[in-house]
Amino acid sequence: MVDTIERLDKTAHYLKSKIDFVPEIAIVLGSGLGKLADFIEGSIEIPYEEIPDFPRTTVVGHEGKLIFGTLKNRKVVAMKGRFHYYEGNDMDAVVYPMRVFKRLGIESIIVTNAAGGVNTEFIPGHLMLITDHLSFFCENPLRGENIDELGSRFPDMSVVYDRDLRKIAMESARKLGIDLKEGIYSYCKGPSYESPAEIRALRLMGADAVGMSTVPEAIAARHMGMRVLGISCITNMAAGVLDQPLNHEEVMETGKKVEQKFSALVSSIVENWK
Ligand code: HPA
Repeated sequence: MVDTIERLDKTAHYLKSKIDFVPEIAIVLGSGLGKLADFIEGSIEIPYEEIPDFPRTTVVGHEGKLIFGTLKNRKVVAMKGRFHYYEGNDMDAVVYPMRVFKRLGIESIIVTNAAGGVNTEFIPGHLMLITDHLSFFCENPLRGENIDELGSRFPDMSVVYDRDLRKIAMESARKLGIDLKEGIYSYCKGPSYESPAEIRALRLMGADAVGMSTVPEAIAARHMGMRVLGISCITNMAAGVLDQPLNHEEVMETGKKVEQKFSALVSSIVENWK
């Protein structure tokens, strides 16, 4: 798969021409969680459409740019707007940015998302540290000829979400007085929300939250040996938990309400990163 490597290097080469540092951490910002980008200092913003071979975003609430700069004295790059499978992207496009990050020399990612609460003890506005995921309903981003230069054919997924980073996240939350929940994130393809029966089934399988992102990126990152931390913002209760319909506006509104707390938590994690 020389082609993919060539494309990745072309993209990485372009980005390197725009920045004079290698970020330590890449942060993927979920729906309604873009506010964190405002805290990045000395930022260099690069719209996706200017980046050679980079995919394009189509979702309302996802702007579509990379923001390179400094957060709490650490060099980071934030992705404002990610690529979802439900938009019609193939999995190569969904995980393309992770691969570019790795080619840039970045070794860690923080993936964030808006998610529905499957665990009935959660309420909208809770933040959940992802301890593991269910990928059963996700087309595997590694399907197809393996790109040996990126990673092995059958990568281990025993610990996708780095234990040490999770400890740092819990400790950061404790210091900030944030009640950070922990749980299992289940991927569903979307774009329609799940049915109540699907949510009951997911709960039986051990899911605490459900969403339409994160898992492909996490798998691709682990394939390349990157460290991964995942945080969900519970924006709504999943289908059937409450007797009310779900809508995207609710997701975006809750995102807005928690953006302060969310930004404080992620900033603190970055500050305490080891
Ligand atoms: N289901 C799937 N994805 C989501 C949800 C949900 O309830 N809320 C936010 N993203």
